[in-house]
Amino acid sequence: MAGIKDSSRGGFSNKIGFVLAAAGSAVGLGNIWKFPFEVSDGGGGAFVVMYLAFCFMLCFPVMMAEVAIGRKTNKNAVGAFTENGHRAWSALGKLGVLTGILILSFYNVVAGWALGFAIEMFAGNFELGQNFGAFIGNWQLNLVFSSIFMVVTIYIVAKGVSGGIEKASKILMPSLLILILSLMAYSLTQEGAVDGVVYYLVPDFNAITFETAYGAMGQAFFSLSLGMGALITYGSYVGKKDNIVTSTTMILLTDVGIAFIAGLMMFAFVFSQGLQGQGGGAGLIFTVLPGAFESIGPVLGRVIGGFFFVLLSFAALTSTVSLLEVPVAYVVDEYEVRRERTVWIVGVGIFLLGIPSMLGNGTVPFFTEFVQYSSSENPVSFMDFIEDMASDTFLPLGGFLISVYTAWVWRGDNFKKEVEIGNPGFGDSLIGKYTIFALKYLAPFILGSITVITVLSKFF
Ligand code: PFF
Repeated sequence: MAGIKDSSRGGFSNKIGFVLAAAGSAVGLGNIWKFPFEVSDGGGGAFVVMYLAFCFMLCFPVMMAEVAIGRKTNKNAVGAFTENGHRAWSALGKLGVLTGILILSFYNVVAGWALGFAIEMFAGNFELGQNFGAFIGNWQLNLVFSSIFMVVTIYIVAKGVSGGIEKASKILMPSLLILILSLMAYSLTQEGAVDGVVYYLVPDFNAITFETAYGAMGQAFFSLSLGMGALITYGSYVGKKDNIVTSTTMILLTDVGIAFIAGLMMFAFVFSQGLQGQGGGAGLIFTVLPGAFESIGPVLGRVIGGFFFVLLSFAALTSTVSLLEVPVAYVVDEYEVRRERTVWIVGVGIFLLGIPSMLGNGTVPFFTEFVQYSSSENPVSFMDFIEDMASDTFLPLGGFLISVYTAWVWRGDNFKKEVEIGNPGFGDSLIGKYTIFALKYLAPFILGSITVITVLSKFF
């Protein structure tokens, strides 16, 4: 099979396998669950513009850097830095492993909600939107759904790279896209949808603050699975002949495209149901969509609603698989232990770490009101705190360090050489020149300053 570099580690069977798996990692709850509520918290169109700017101008170069580091070294997120002769930088890989563990701990909880909603929609329980608080407060039920989700994730990761990940993404990603496109078309026919579109697409630049820029930056990294070495790990399975620029472009366009369509659909539904301005937070899609499915009709609405949440769960699954793969690849490569056993131990550990997130939805006050930021009025829950730390702070911080590492430590020239193996002329092209410039100056400056300023304002 072309593309396999080291048969003992496995590899993607061809280029499209890598693109699909990386796009499967990127497309998930981040696009459909997180993006709309972040847009809503961030004030609408201005957030969307910032998000798009971050994706195309900063994340794109950082994505190429991650894939190139992975392919060059053929290693996991930590070993890649050691292999390249920069042992001290393996701390950056360890930050990535920690971030992956933290993200998966709450991601798995939300994936459990999606699974629960699939069943409830098939059963025609359209009132669930109004009872979302009670639904997530039922932690025993959440425990059941989330443990099912984690077991399936563990099972797929245990089977190795090309077997599990590739097959799943090939069938399910296109189905999800078709369903969201159809729902978007339907949402736009609803009365009042135009106001939602205006809110979503017409930016109010007065709404831009450091806090919203920080949110948009974190969202861009989260959505692209960037800044924690997931793409270093996946990049390590990419063949030398593959073209990193075109692969990365495809992943970026797929991910941003799906988030964009999902956002359009959501805000058309939010405004047509008169639910704007209610600050839905993490519950936004779960409170709004059941009503939208109900409006489709009692039978068809059940079927479409059920399938929607089934496909959302599968999209989440291709992401949880990649999240688990990061710590597992690290432990298996570096400590030379058996893959199967490691997957179970790491997976179950992360599942347990997610339990406080389940209990922090009203069940246990300590986890529900976990931290008080100096910049906000109300305390935030354990889950929100982990999400803030991991996705909004550690991912951009990882992106910042990966840019500095690639441009200044590994060096721009070596990065260029690695990309040029499958893409001759990269260094002289406009994209090549921009990428190096962005990694050297733009990304370190922008990512570094937004992170520092916002973290200081949150805690001091
Ligand atoms: N990109 C995923 C999503 O948008 O749902 C989340 C994610 C997966 C983040 C894998 C980070 C990662 F390594």
